[in-house]
Amino acid sequence: MYSKIAGTGRCLPKKVLSNADLEKIVDTTDEWIKSRTGIERRHVVSDGETTGTLSEHAARQAMEAAAVGPADIDLIVIGTTTPDQVFPNMGCLLQARLDIHGCPAFSIEAACTGFIYALSIADQFVRDGKAKCALVVGAETLTNIIDWSDRATCVLFGDGAGAVVLQASDEPGIMSTHLHADGRYKDLLYFPSGVGQGLDSIREGQNAVRMKGNEVFKVAVNTLGAIVEETLSANKMTRADLDWLIPHQANIRIIKATARKLGMSMDQVILTVKDHGNTSTASVPMALDVAVRDGQIKRGDVLLLEAFGGGFTWGSALVRY
Ligand code: COA
Repeated sequence: MYSKIAGTGRCLPKKVLSNADLEKIVDTTDEWIKSRTGIERRHVVSDGETTGTLSEHAARQAMEAAAVGPADIDLIVIGTTTPDQVFPNMGCLLQARLDIHGCPAFSIEAACTGFIYALSIADQFVRDGKAKCALVVGAETLTNIIDWSDRATCVLFGDGAGAVVLQASDEPGIMSTHLHADGRYKDLLYFPSGVGQGLDSIREGQNAVRMKGNEVFKVAVNTLGAIVEETLSANKMTRADLDWLIPHQANIRIIKATARKLGMSMDQVILTVKDHGNTSTASVPMALDVAVRDGQIKRGDVLLLEAFGGGFTWGSALVRY
């Protein structure tokens, strides 16, 4: 038994913040942001939009694309680092929004790799016969925990949600997934507040995402290069067998470095970083949905999904769409 992607969906907040808008907030330029990151604009939540509202819309779209209803879903796994509440977990909150009852529902916190972790877990449930129709979501509202006076981070991030429905299938589907983490790198990219520091530390608003950008860049390029090799070798495939690379949309220069290592033309790389910015765990499923809906990705294509994020976490999935 394997799992197969039966439908995809995404949701972006209404409000768009361009690089020109950011020039009015911090000492930066459109030229600096574009040349260092490839980002031109990003969507940010406003007017009651939350990780929950974005996830719900993305999930409903994916369910519609897969032609399944709430009663068909027997597992919900959502990757997010910015849940609406500490608990109930974001999976349960999404379950309530979708009027789904009784199936297991939980969230995975692996920063920008959250969706790949969620996909891997849901795939195991399906392979083990424990689920037949899983909803897998990556959703993030990181702009809520950004320091809008820190030009080194605030220009990078955006919000959004992407979702897929995984169904049991006789043939893959998800061919393999590969997950890694190394807590030694915990101080490269992090949000310092939490229950352990007391909730006042969050309410004071003094804390925000902290990042050593240069070091993140190097670790990202190295780990992604290695995981691409690991994924191909596990499937006895070569680079020539890949149709599409769907990378985490953090930075165009990191994406280009990975494509170069794979010997892939940029024409085979799905790119949304220009319009979405870094939406953390939402970036890979949203990029997948964009490419499916605009007809770039077709049934039967072989896709390599990969991501990295705070933790450090990193992971990949090889998928026959
Ligand atoms: N606008 C203008 N200048 C900026 C700026 C901004 N938004 N942000 C930083 N700078 C300045 C710095 O202050 C520094 O100035 P200085 O030389 O006078 O000290 C200069 O630009 C270079 O900073 P540096 O951090 O070395 O730039 P960089 O080339 O490494 O690019 C990143 C910065 C963040 C774009 C890059 O390191 C990166 O993309 N890292 C990976 C981040 C990432 O992907 N994070 C998410 C992981 S999931």
